[in-house]
Amino acid sequence: MFKFTAKALLCALAIGISGMASADPIVIKFSHVVADSTPKGQGALLFKKLVEERLKGKVEVQVYPNSSLYGDGKEMEALLLGDVQMIAPSLAKFGQYTKKLQVFDLPFLFNDIHAVDRFQHSATGKELLKSMENNNITGLAYWHNGMKQLSANKPLRVPRDARGLKFRVQSSDVLDAQFKAVRANPRKMSFAEVYQGLQTGVVNGAENPWSNIYSQKFNEVQKYITESNHGVLDYMVITNTKFWNGLPADIRSQLDEILGEVTDKVNAEAWALNQKAKQAVIDAKTSEVIELTPEERAKWVKSMKPVWKQFEGEIGSNVIDAALAANDAK
Ligand code: LMR
Repeated sequence: MFKFTAKALLCALAIGISGMASADPIVIKFSHVVADSTPKGQGALLFKKLVEERLKGKVEVQVYPNSSLYGDGKEMEALLLGDVQMIAPSLAKFGQYTKKLQVFDLPFLFNDIHAVDRFQHSATGKELLKSMENNNITGLAYWHNGMKQLSANKPLRVPRDARGLKFRVQSSDVLDAQFKAVRANPRKMSFAEVYQGLQTGVVNGAENPWSNIYSQKFNEVQKYITESNHGVLDYMVITNTKFWNGLPADIRSQLDEILGEVTDKVNAEAWALNQKAKQAVIDAKTSEVIELTPEERAKWVKSMKPVWKQFEGEIGSNVIDAALAANDAK
């Protein structure tokens, strides 16, 4: 009996102590793989700033850029294990958890980043944020980076130019198929390995938005960059569902509100940031920037578009149709 009472007392003490410890700030580790100067890097830093101003002493945000804590592949695992609380992977990196997000990788689907934005705000786009909740992943927001450009050490003007080249791709089966469609050899590789991969010739080409090209100095190891705008590289800001739902309701709603503000700012500024990076690449004179004629572009579309049919079953034709509908500005 005494033993039981002593144990109960110890338990009560432990609970009391952990109650006191809860006065410590909630720590949100936000890990990502790009530079601070990119749209995602800027977004993560602004989120930290606003949270720490408005939830002073209650929530602390630690930002780890440039794969300094976890790289691709590992960051998702870390989120599920509770080792980080927020990440924002590219929409190309969710294939293991849902096939529907592959819609964002379909080549030449979106006319421009405004169409991508309209789709993300549509009912279907919002539903996709919840498509991984069974896997304990909650989508909180979409952040833009921008449209992707092809690069290589030889000029890429028509699909034939890409034939036989080894292209680095993100971990996406659609992107893999996209390069196979032009008879190139795709190779899945984590972002942190790309510079060296290009430098050593493990891969000869890549596809990236301007902000990633410039901030990772890919232009130093790619002689030609084709302004193809053939696809989008955007992000989903995600959290661990159990962590998020376990937060005190008032804190969660303030974090939601702050994230909404940050999202608006990131998405309003991403285009300009990419244009600035493009200009910096041009000024660096490391690479020639190739503009496609309408005829050349049409050839890329013709070669790559069959990929849509290949993935229609997995993605769902309703999702593809909703994305296409976003090309028509209201
Ligand atoms: C990539 O792997 O190319 C991108 O997903 C990196 C990023 O987060 O922008």
